[in-house]
Amino acid sequence: MNAGHFTRLHHIPMKSHNISDCRLIDLPKISDPRGNLTFVEGERHISFTIKRIFYLYDVPGGADRGGHALKSCHQFLIAMSGSFDVILNDGTTKSRIHLNRSYRGLLIPPMIWREMDNFSSGSVCLVLASESYCENDYYREYADYLGALNS
Ligand code: TYD
Repeated sequence: MNAGHFTRLHHIPMKSHNISDCRLIDLPKISDPRGNLTFVEGERHISFTIKRIFYLYDVPGGADRGGHALKSCHQFLIAMSGSFDVILNDGTTKSRIHLNRSYRGLLIPPMIWREMDNFSSGSVCLVLASESYCENDYYREYADYLGALNS
């Protein structure tokens, strides 16, 4: 992790993932006077096979998104346009990452609590996911997430 501000929360002895497993990845950028081009291939630029794509857009000023952890889904987040912050939390350590480049993504493995805020006007957050949507894959209550880390 090469960005963000780390805050110690509390000690949890055993867990499957921590925020040092999150990665900022620079994708290929084909610069062209007609406009730049970036591409991403599953299992080449990111570690998983891409099964689903979704995107957040028309996010009103001051809105928060996220506020969950995923049990098995890996995700890769890109600020396609504009910027926003992702707050990563593994139950022990917190890190705020600012995404503002169309060629840079944040890889988040499973079992990382994430929140998103500070969306700029007109921003678009593209998410590549390793799994289809499944509500059972979510921890939506922080206490449940912490309980799962401790079990
Ligand atoms: P949610 O994951 O809660 O959004 P965020 O955490 O980014 O604020 O999803 C919002 C709603 O959209 C929720 O009812 C589930 C639904 N949803 C799908 O049906 N399919 C999807 O792929 C995603 C990501 C969400």
